[in-house]
Amino acid sequence: MERISADLLIIGAGPGGYVSAIYAAKKGLNVILVDAKRVGGTCLNDGCIPTKALVKSAELYQDILHAEEEGIYVTNPSFDMAKIIDKKDQVKDKLISGIEYLLNKYEVKLIKGLASFENDTEVLISGDENYLIEASDIIIATGSKTKHIPIEGLDSKFVVDSEVLLNNKNLPKTMNVIGGGIIGMEFAFIYASFGVTVNVIEFLPRVLPGVDKEFSMRLMRFAKKLNITILTNAKVTRIEEQADNALVHFEHKGKEKSLECDLVLEAVGRVPLIDGLGLEKTTIEIDIHNGVKVDSRMKTNVKNVYAIGDVTNIMQLAHVASHQGIVAVDNILGKDKEMDYTNIPAVIFTTPMIATVGKTEAICKEEEIPFEVVKVPYSANGKALILGGEAGYMKLLRNPDSKKLIGGMIFGKDADNLIASVTVAITNGLTAHDLQETIFAHPTVQELVHEGAMGLDHQAIHFLD
Ligand code: NAI
Repeated sequence: MERISADLLIIGAGPGGYVSAIYAAKKGLNVILVDAKRVGGTCLNDGCIPTKALVKSAELYQDILHAEEEGIYVTNPSFDMAKIIDKKDQVKDKLISGIEYLLNKYEVKLIKGLASFENDTEVLISGDENYLIEASDIIIATGSKTKHIPIEGLDSKFVVDSEVLLNNKNLPKTMNVIGGGIIGMEFAFIYASFGVTVNVIEFLPRVLPGVDKEFSMRLMRFAKKLNITILTNAKVTRIEEQADNALVHFEHKGKEKSLECDLVLEAVGRVPLIDGLGLEKTTIEIDIHNGVKVDSRMKTNVKNVYAIGDVTNIMQLAHVASHQGIVAVDNILGKDKEMDYTNIPAVIFTTPMIATVGKTEAICKEEEIPFEVVKVPYSANGKALILGGEAGYMKLLRNPDSKKLIGGMIFGKDADNLIASVTVAITNGLTAHDLQETIFAHPTVQELVHEGAMGLDHQAIHFLD
């Protein structure tokens, strides 16, 4: 076994780990990055990027099915799932090779293997070659894995997680989704768009419990249009494997019920990935949710050991992991930097999309924060109508005293892009007046942000405020 040392050892090459590695190397640190799999982590290999590639194909297929409404005629449209998955893999492979190229260019030593702490300062790597690494600083960025509910029958061959679905070339006729959270709803829309009959079984009274109630209720109506059946207040209790399919048993409104299907997607959350990391040989503290405990500087309780991303279980979002990585590296470099979670944007890639940043009306009420809100309909925007997005709308919230914007929620086309301008405004303490004085290009959906800012002062031009 070879003993090597480095300024910085990063365990896990997902959007937390690889971003930290490139950033640290560019700042002059000698970096070792370890991962048992290809770089990119869940996000690039089995999560964000592949899912969004499938969303694109699913939406394109739906657009083709409805092309007649736009005066375009397509005879017998069909799709080839194997090709769709190949296309998704091409996108993923291109991004991964790009990251590998950059790591190499910036002289990050990439080691393929499993990392396990020997003690607070040394890490053993087992792979094709074995190493014992001693580094001045260590960042744990091992991510998360699918959470399993403790019920009978989950080991059935008919039960899969989202990572398996991403490579599934044979679509089922019927799929039951356990959990109407982000993963459950994104896959429900993808599969239903390709004609699969989808049932979503959600424990709580509504899907996407983390978003504004009005938004999740509205999304449920769109789901219905795509023949997605949503059962809320329903708790899955058992999976029964039958000869050719599975029977999902659940409690619904006090009654025992069951629904047959060809495939079951388990999407009830993700948990920090710390298996095999040898944390028991260290004094690193774990929190009650099994995440590695960190402070706002991403430091664990052990000097020179940091943790970032899903393994901390603070916010399971790739862009949060990347930013936490930069905060950790800056602290390693001697800057005093803290992570601020107040204005983190989040996008749910259903059809329509939902994007949020900052405070919602519900949070403001709960935290007794004064707020003013404006609701801007997409039907007031030319580009949104061209895109067929008239059902969308945006809400902007501001503090009535400081006049600063404090929240934005968008339901509709282009929401993933639109949320960026709202995030920039909120993060930088801009007021509605600042946005009113900003010129937005026409015709774009972004003009809705300007309209919203105008509407907060009852100056909207294109809708009644
Ligand atoms: P989630 O926490 O979003 O949703 C899980 C859902 O399962 C909850 O609504 C819960 O009430 C329900 N549930 C739990 N036990 C149940 C049972 N026995 N029967 C029925 N329903 C049950 O978890 P999800 O969707 O697996 O996503 C994991 C993480 O991945 C999320 O925290 C999210 O932040 C991240 N993610 C983000 C994406 C994005 O930013 N676009 C995309 C996909 C995932």
